[in-house]
Amino acid sequence: MDSATTDSTKPEPPPATRTLPVALVGAELPVPCVDGTDRPYLSLDAAASTGALPEVAAAVDEFLPWYSSVHRGAGQKSQRSTTAFEAARQALLRFAGRGDDDVAIICRNTTEAINHLAYRLRLGPDDVVVTTVVEHHANLLPWSRAATCRYVECQPDGTVTVAAVVEALEQSPAPRLLALTGASNITGWQPPVDELVEEAHRRGVPVVLDAAQLAPHRPLPASPDFVAFSGHKMYAPFGTGVLIGPRTAFTDGDPFLAGGGAVDLVDLDEVIWSQPPEREEAGSPNVIGAVALHAAVDTLGAIGWPALVAHDEEIALRLRSGVAAIPGVRLLGPSLDTPTLPVATFVVEGVPHALVAARLAAEHAIGVRHGCFCAHPYLIRLLGLDGTAVSRFREQVRRGDRSAIPGAVRASAGIDTSAADVDRFLTALAGLAGGEPPPVPYRQDARTGDHYPIGGPYPDVLVSADGHGGCSPG
Ligand code: ALA
Repeated sequence: MDSATTDSTKPEPPPATRTLPVALVGAELPVPCVDGTDRPYLSLDAAASTGALPEVAAAVDEFLPWYSSVHRGAGQKSQRSTTAFEAARQALLRFAGRGDDDVAIICRNTTEAINHLAYRLRLGPDDVVVTTVVEHHANLLPWSRAATCRYVECQPDGTVTVAAVVEALEQSPAPRLLALTGASNITGWQPPVDELVEEAHRRGVPVVLDAAQLAPHRPLPASPDFVAFSGHKMYAPFGTGVLIGPRTAFTDGDPFLAGGGAVDLVDLDEVIWSQPPEREEAGSPNVIGAVALHAAVDTLGAIGWPALVAHDEEIALRLRSGVAAIPGVRLLGPSLDTPTLPVATFVVEGVPHALVAARLAAEHAIGVRHGCFCAHPYLIRLLGLDGTAVSRFREQVRRGDRSAIPGAVRASAGIDTSAADVDRFLTALAGLAGGEPPPVPYRQDARTGDHYPIGGPYPDVLVSADGHGGCSPG
């Protein structure tokens, strides 16, 4: 990486090529299970958050002694911190295949990036944003709050056709924006982004791509006007994400956040905003997060997309076909012929999703996610729930009872996942789906819907009196 601690005139040797899978920081940490033994932890929750790459931890370690204010100090540490922050910005633009006409705004995560854009586009209730029911809440709620959404429905297998998107783009009034995911966080399905962007651009509609899931798995398409992604899903869990888009989109109007660092001049009755990207980054920026994300994109670059994609495809097939083959387990989403990211979301007949996830954690030391995955409209469709069922669950949730909330279980893999990891998970799931009795009783907390084992050395999970702290809020 272009570290702040190295002489920028000296070319750095490229990082050593890594073979896959990569051991992330904290890999195989032993965790206590209900039978009294410790087992190596297996994270199959990469779609939520990944562990850190060793290169990321090393870059943060190396930078920390130099940590200081960014864009705010004459001292050498401030200068080096500013250099590191700006080097990260350039690396993110390169990673996304963008050039000088674009700007990378460093923020907290994809959710913040999309909220930022929704504010910046100055939308109103008369403006239409075309989006799909496949989206994560981060790419739905900012748009439905700022404008009127025109939703493209999915098919029963959770995919959306190009024709359906085109139909929505052509309806009147003409949309101001197409907001599209690069890959679903539930099914791993990847829309044909370049084709959809071409259709949108042909009709004069700009596109924002939510690349939170896509960025760690595939090269980012350069065709969307705006793209957003998060460090915590790509091995850089230090609180940084990015919004990239044309510089011209941020040169006029007031920024999303107002405050120090975003202005050239302030008087009590006037403010002159800086030029982007500083204009969009009020407040002290997260330089540690930027250094981490820079190291992550450099490491992914050094491994190279051919190796990353080949590993991904192998794991995706093993995971999804393995889950689909277990009797009593239903894999949600497209058929196995459709390539997806390494994500398998499923239901086990007769066993609540929260109990499946709790048993995988407590009996097998396997970390997965369960619930509705912050994409409620999509999951409702994948589960095939009708309006009556949805109204019933809505009423129960309003009463604070989540004990019967619908949902599924998701296993998601990354560059640290091996074929043996997938097999370990499949063996555990097959046992559970096959009716293996739990070694200890479990109780359910109706406020969260979560299940917890009673007894054994498994640590108590702290849930507050009003139900905060559960594992599956949307
Ligand atoms: N969006 C993340 C997930 O799908 C948090 O788990």
